[in-house]
Amino acid sequence: MTTRADYSALIAQAIEARERAYCPYSGFAVGAAVLTTSDRVFPGCNVENAAYPATVCAERTALLSAFARGEREIVAIPVVADTPEPVSPCGTCPQVIHELAPHCTVILANMRGDISLATPLELLPGGFTGGDLPNKS
Ligand code: THU
Repeated sequence: MTTRADYSALIAQAIEARERAYCPYSGFAVGAAVLTTSDRVFPGCNVENAAYPATVCAERTALLSAFARGEREIVAIPVVADTPEPVSPCGTCPQVIHELAPHCTVILANMRGDISLATPLELLPGGFTGGDLPNKS
């Protein structure tokens, strides 16, 4: 079983990715790092846009990067921001994590070293899935 201490190197990579955040509008930098079963790490940071809804969160940037490299088995995703408590993900991200990394451990963290572990289902109980769509065939 993976313990909290085992995540420290992965969290460090998310903190490093956070330094590359493009957040001129909010000033709120977020970093993430997707760990795959092939033991590769895909960093992500939030990338904002003057058209605010076009902004992409750090965890989605990292996940999409992993998928673009053909990775499909995600083990863990730390998300780090400078918040008093471990950062809370926005509503969209758990939906995307639910779809792309349903069995991963989400590690919510802050710059003080506080962490909180969650499953995608815990972040989004009753999330919408492909099974909810009518069968098109
Ligand atoms: N943000 C993330 O990147 N991940 C989260 O889990 C929460 C929010 C970003 C989006 C936006 O660039 C900024 O934080 C403020 O909402």
